[in-house]
Amino acid sequence: MNDETRARTAIERCRTLAGFSQDLGSTRRMFLSPPMRDCHREITSWLKPLGAEVRIDAAGNLRGFYAADRAVAPRLLIGSHLDTVPNAGAFDGILGVVLGVALLEALRGKRLPFGIEVIGFSEEEGQRFGTPFIGSRALVGRLDEELLNRKDDRGICVRQAIQDFGLDPREIPAAALSGDTLGYVEFHIEQGPVLDGLERPLGVVEAIAGQSRLEFVFVGSVNHAGTTPMNRRQDAIAAAAEWITAVEREAQQTDGLLATIGSVTAKPGAANVIAGETRLTLDVRHGSDEVRNRAAETLVRLAEAIAGRRGMSVAHTTRLTQRSVAMDPKLMNQIEEAIRLSGCEPYKMVSGAGHDAMILAERVPASMIFLRTPHGISHDPAESVRVEDVAKAIAAGSHLFELLAQSPPIQRRTQLA
Ligand code: GLV
Ligand code: MN
Ligand code: MN
Repeated sequence: MNDETRARTAIERCRTLAGFSQDLGSTRRMFLSPPMRDCHREITSWLKPLGAEVRIDAAGNLRGFYAADRAVAPRLLIGSHLDTVPNAGAFDGILGVVLGVALLEALRGKRLPFGIEVIGFSEEEGQRFGTPFIGSRALVGRLDEELLNRKDDRGICVRQAIQDFGLDPREIPAAALSGDTLGYVEFHIEQGPVLDGLERPLGVVEAIAGQSRLEFVFVGSVNHAGTTPMNRRQDAIAAAAEWITAVEREAQQTDGLLATIGSVTAKPGAANVIAGETRLTLDVRHGSDEVRNRAAETLVRLAEAIAGRRGMSVAHTTRLTQRSVAMDPKLMNQIEEAIRLSGCEPYKMVSGAGHDAMILAERVPASMIFLRTPHGISHDPAESVRVEDVAKAIAAGSHLFELLAQSPPIQRRTQLA
């Protein structure tokens, strides 16, 4: 089998996994939802014949360990996430896990002086609990009490969701990174138009932009749509709408700022009833943490001013404040060299999307390889990849293994062994 055949298989596998969904006819797979079990089963059936030991850790992450050629050796982590947004594409996250499997297959049974752990993170998107990175946070010891007690829309907390899936939250400490971790490499589609515009198949990520996620609730007064004069209303939808346009204006006026209100729900939600409550999510991103934090504060103040002027109240909850993170320069250099060996020129770039690599980077050298995303379309069923780019990614990953095997830290251990 060559890399192109492996690439076709990888794409086919991503499409198979996209079929494991909570929704009929589209892909949606949230943290520890029933189709996550199907996903685990399917990926396990690819990993086990390769000689990998597979387990699901207490945070619901799939961990497939392919041992080294010796008893005592460090391990390289390769992975990405298995959860999705609603009406998702077939490649965001999943491709990085499937490529881990493809890279083990490309070894054809050969063992390296380091072990390889393929990880499918249980949660990166923040869809079920409003907070992303639940899976990777378990690896760095940040799946804490506060997060375990956080509730989803149905009032089920993270701890309960873990138990309902048949896992034991008391085992979470055992999901933590082991001290022998060499580094973390994440393959991921770029999810933007940069590589496509430059006609480059692969990129190497040098930093990941920070993000803040908040939830807002505007509270007004429910009343009759036909009898309440316009000047006697506290309309929670109208207040939210005023704020939404103010958020867009603020982002447009601040260089590099991205602010998104991705979800709006109103109660009671009837044509002839003035809304008494509107809930909104706010996602704020910027390359500079200072600008992002300042912008988030400004947007909170704007919401309060609008609600106040209308005689209403607004409350907000911060779900995530994640600083921007630099990737490991040494690992980046090795990735760049591996990409060159695969026959293409790497493009260094900053990721605007959040990734598990930004959590792992707190504890171990981490970096990412981006694959060109045709037309820059992601978080949509039209998301795609090119076979030749996936083949290049597999070639680059195989070269990276060779480079790491020859790298001084591994060589030093080999001499000691
Ligand atoms: C991940 O998809 C993100 O929202 O950055
Ligand atoms: Mn995503
Ligand atoms: Mn992703």
